[in-house]
Amino acid sequence: MVLFLYFYIMKNSPIGIFDSGIGGLTVAHAITNALPNENIIYFGDTKHLPYGEKSKEAIQSFSRKIIKFLIEKKCKTIVIACNSASSVADESVYRVSASTPIYNVIDPVVKEVIKICSDYNIGVIGTKATIGSGIYESKIKSKCSTSNVISLATPLLAPMIEEGFINEKISNTVIANYLANPVLKNIDHLILACTHYPLIHKEIDEYYNGRVFVIDSANIVAIHIANELKKENLLNYSTKTEHHFYVSNYTKSFEKCAQFFFQENIKLEEINLFV
Ligand code: DGL
Repeated sequence: MVLFLYFYIMKNSPIGIFDSGIGGLTVAHAITNALPNENIIYFGDTKHLPYGEKSKEAIQSFSRKIIKFLIEKKCKTIVIACNSASSVADESVYRVSASTPIYNVIDPVVKEVIKICSDYNIGVIGTKATIGSGIYESKIKSKCSTSNVISLATPLLAPMIEEGFINEKISNTVIANYLANPVLKNIDHLILACTHYPLIHKEIDEYYNGRVFVIDSANIVAIHIANELKKENLLNYSTKTEHHFYVSNYTKSFEKCAQFFFQENIKLEEINLFV
């Protein structure tokens, strides 16, 4: 009876998701598409955006505080929906929760990529923190030594997207400028190693015009989370869902973006975790 009650409560508990800003909404949206019965608690650390420019220690400290908050909110699982935070997450971050599983957005993508291990030339674009960590390269190469991984930091993209410059002359110029970098010349695959980038996936596809297979993490991560919850017998079957969105610094543009993704009237709550 006690065990039954435990699983009943756990299944109904929300999935906690966080990022520095709107990027993680691409993952949150994919998760609610794959798992329409799940409740979501989202935290956007807009006060510290962009994470990609911060030190490893600063990002780890922000992550620990946000994870603590999500655990206090009784989340059954936590998704670090940010490549920059995922790339520097160490024991001190994962240890914040003794029992709540914490997933990053890098491992599910690497797992997919190595499934098709070959002599591919795989490009990776992301923030300075993600690219500087070398994590994609080391994880892919350790499992698939025949692939060639070429990484390029594209630090203007996340702030540009956060400011709403999508599908415009300015964004197309910035994207083209980065992708024309000679180091990416021979790639046949491109990993969008920043959760903001699915918002410009279409523009990147248009730039390559079918020459490069572009991999974005949102759906890959969502399927991974769905499989893990299923394995743990923690899927929610209730049809009444409730999503909550928190930020460390309120912005109208964030609220609009969340509304656009979830097609519902979202009330953004500002909360200061960093006192
Ligand atoms: N969305 C984040 C990522 O995946 C980061 C953007 C930033 O804050 O620099 O890396």
